[in-house]
Amino acid sequence: MNNYYGRIIGYGKALPRNIVTNADLEKKVDTSDEWITERTGIRQRHIVSDDEHCSTLAVGASRAAMNVAGIGPSDLDLIIVATSSPDFLTPPVSSQIQHMLGASTIGAFTVVVGCTGFVTSLIMADRFIRAGGYRNILVIGVEIISRMLDWEDRNTCVLFGDGAAAVVVQRTDERSGVLSHVMGSDGAGAQHIIHPSGGSALPPSHETIDNRDVYIKMNGREVFRFAVPVIGNTLQQIVTEAGLTFDDIDLLIPHQANARIIESAAKLTAFPEDRIFVNVHNYGNTSAASVPIALTEAFEQGRVKKGDTVAMIAFGAGLTWAGAVVKL
Ligand SMILES: CC(C)(COP(=O)(O)OP(=O)(O)OC[C@H]1O[C@@H](n2cnc3c(N)ncnc32)[C@H](O)[C@@H]1OP(=O)(O)O)[C@@H](O)C(=O)NCCC(=O)NCCS
Repeated sequence: MNNYYGRIIGYGKALPRNIVTNADLEKKVDTSDEWITERTGIRQRHIVSDDEHCSTLAVGASRAAMNVAGIGPSDLDLIIVATSSPDFLTPPVSSQIQHMLGASTIGAFTVVVGCTGFVTSLIMADRFIRAGGYRNILVIGVEIISRMLDWEDRNTCVLFGDGAAAVVVQRTDERSGVLSHVMGSDGAGAQHIIHPSGGSALPPSHETIDNRDVYIKMNGREVFRFAVPVIGNTLQQIVTEAGLTFDDIDLLIPHQANARIIESAAKLTAFPEDRIFVNVHNYGNTSAASVPIALTEAFEQGRVKKGDTVAMIAFGAGLTWAGAVVKL
């Protein structure tokens, strides 16, 4: 029986160069900086230009993470990509990324669980390493949601942004990595976040374009109602399962969808707000990229360091959720 753990030894992010402020959005849709700031906390988001893609942003974030880790593409033995906005539905973007990075013909696959994707993928990477056979796994969260948004729908388009971040998970003998985790899904809420003509059920046609089914549709109020208790319950579960208390958690990194969701969850659980990482004001909701971008910034800003214990919690389309207590 081996005693392997998967420690995060590298992290990095890549954001589109173009920043769109709330004031910029005021010129496009019937909204206001005041409404967006008050209801969501979001002040700006990064949006891709024509030459930026899911694959290129992912490669940028991956190179940054490998640089911090001090490893190269030839050291990798698995790539897991969390995204719901790949360059193409086929081929999988994970293989494009593997080739663009210059990694050898290692395994690479894409995990599609909406905003929950990165935390789910990190849990998987940790389990692959613990089982033996893998030394360095690259885990990427990347999203180009802007190309799937209806820029005439003020209910959705103001909330999201594009971005990517990656971590390198390395095998070690020291106790670290995922100490506890929870994964959940409730398909009864599927219609609350849906991209109707994004798959095989509703192929593209003049009708799907006229009905704007080619864009993501969301029932924000229902998602809000779902998100707040799910963060609270998941936090309680993973902390208890790890045999810890809230005092042992150095930083909570929740999915960055809306500052009000995070504040409400903090109140509900009585988790201290000064130990919650929030950067949604700068990026909007970057879906599967939001937790790894936040984790990367937490490292960069000295909010976390090796040996710290963090809780990561994400929720999103499905509906789905995932949480993990991770020792860095
Ligand atoms: C979307 C969200 C910000 C809306 O906030 P809210 O306080 O629930 O607002 P409501 O849905 O009650 O809408 C209030 C009004 O604002 C309007 N409104 C919606 N978007 C607007 C915008 N961008 N600008 C101005 N007004 C807007 C609505 O039309 C509504 O008007 P009405 O009362 O005349 O119908 C909020 O529900 C939310 O963040 N939900 C979670 C979404 C999310 O995180 N999704 C991704 C999860 S992974």
